[in-house]
Amino acid sequence: MKISVIGTGYVGLVTGTCLAETGNEVVCVDIDEDKVNRMRSGEVPIYEPHLDVLFERNIEAKRLTFTTSLEEGLAHGAIIFLALPTPEGEDGSADLSYVLGVAEQIGKTIKEYKVIVDKSTVPVGTAEKVRQVIGLHANCDFDVVSNPEFLREGFAVDDFLKPERIIIGSSSTRATALMEKLYKPFVRSGNPILIMDEKSAELTKYAANAFLATKITFMNEIANYCEKVGADVDKVRIGMGTDSRIGKRFLFPGIGYGGSCFPKDVKALHKSGSEENYEFKILDAVINVNSRQKKALLPKINSFFSHNLKGKTFAIWGLAFKPETDDIREAPALDIIEELLKSGAQIQAFDPEAMDNVTKQYGDQITLVKSMYDALQEADALVICTEWSIFRTPDFSRIKEALNTPVLFDGRNLYDTSDVEKEGFSYFSIGRKD
Ligand code: UGA
Repeated sequence: MKISVIGTGYVGLVTGTCLAETGNEVVCVDIDEDKVNRMRSGEVPIYEPHLDVLFERNIEAKRLTFTTSLEEGLAHGAIIFLALPTPEGEDGSADLSYVLGVAEQIGKTIKEYKVIVDKSTVPVGTAEKVRQVIGLHANCDFDVVSNPEFLREGFAVDDFLKPERIIIGSSSTRATALMEKLYKPFVRSGNPILIMDEKSAELTKYAANAFLATKITFMNEIANYCEKVGADVDKVRIGMGTDSRIGKRFLFPGIGYGGSCFPKDVKALHKSGSEENYEFKILDAVINVNSRQKKALLPKINSFFSHNLKGKTFAIWGLAFKPETDDIREAPALDIIEELLKSGAQIQAFDPEAMDNVTKQYGDQITLVKSMYDALQEADALVICTEWSIFRTPDFSRIKEALNTPVLFDGRNLYDTSDVEKEGFSYFSIGRKD
């Protein structure tokens, strides 16, 4: 099939590449000329495991091409995916100006039947708005479909190629049939393609992300309470998670959720509720608890150093909002770093992938080093913010030797408390006895 993908951000790029992988002819459109040129020469503009192999293979086979011309893109695809940014507006709602701007261009440009697919995470009612805007200008038939994505950064290729479900919000049998044909190769395992109305599809995406954010936040509150009463959240987590109604996944407490999705989507759903005079009290609590949780290590750090961090140096392991990504959007590490800097401390940080992005944001305010052990030199404490695998089995004697004080603040509960204490460290983590 002929497919166009408008927008080559994270979602657009993974969608375009994976759809080319099943034999479709995919044209990706982006306004950024430099990025388009780099992609044409085979450079993947984001860090995402396994994407490079698929990218190269499909460019070579000429199934995956790039252009800056929206007109060219719109002429090519029978199905046109909109994978455009929907940033958080000033009032917390999703800013639809990119999506609706392109919708207007689509209306003015298309000359034959097309299926327009909303792939971006958009508020309930957006498919209807897109349909109205295109309809104002179009002289031919078209359909608008909502097809939210459920990709996790770091696992996006796998999630796309082997989805647990595909959601298609469509009220047109013609468009539904085309979408089912497109996705059939991805659900050979028997996982479902769920067809529903556009509004339910749009809400499914927000509800799923908001539920997961709530699940994590609930566990973070239990962890905080564990600290008060001397319980161990790891034991509680396993005890709860073995109930299949609860499930073991997404129960890991830590220094809060971050990334480009959960924070934005929870706020956008909360805001959409208030526009309908509905107060999402749970989401209000989730937002507040999460922003408090991002700073959960700070009272422990302050109390250990008697509230005097001036002139202290902190080694930070992990800057990305989670492992296997270079993404630092809403990363808890940044909240901690900002507070430490404000208190007059210095930072020596290491992350396997995210350091370039941190340099763009912080310039020379913090020192970035080439290895996890380099970060420890002359530092007063180690603070772990992201659970990269490489941090899981470190050489504790090397850490102890390098640090001025053998103290470890772990925002991701990477180690057994007794193991670290046996190594001679003061160890502070989340929801366990310090
Ligand atoms: C999330 C969803 O998991 C995807 O299904 C969805 O498609 C995506 O958002 C999106 O809307 O595009 P992602 O943001 O890549 O994916 O990352 P997750 O792996 O879900 O983690 C989100 C945050 O929750 C991270 O900060 C992570 O550290 C935190 N987390 C996750 C916990 O604190 N505890 C857990 O048990 C799990």
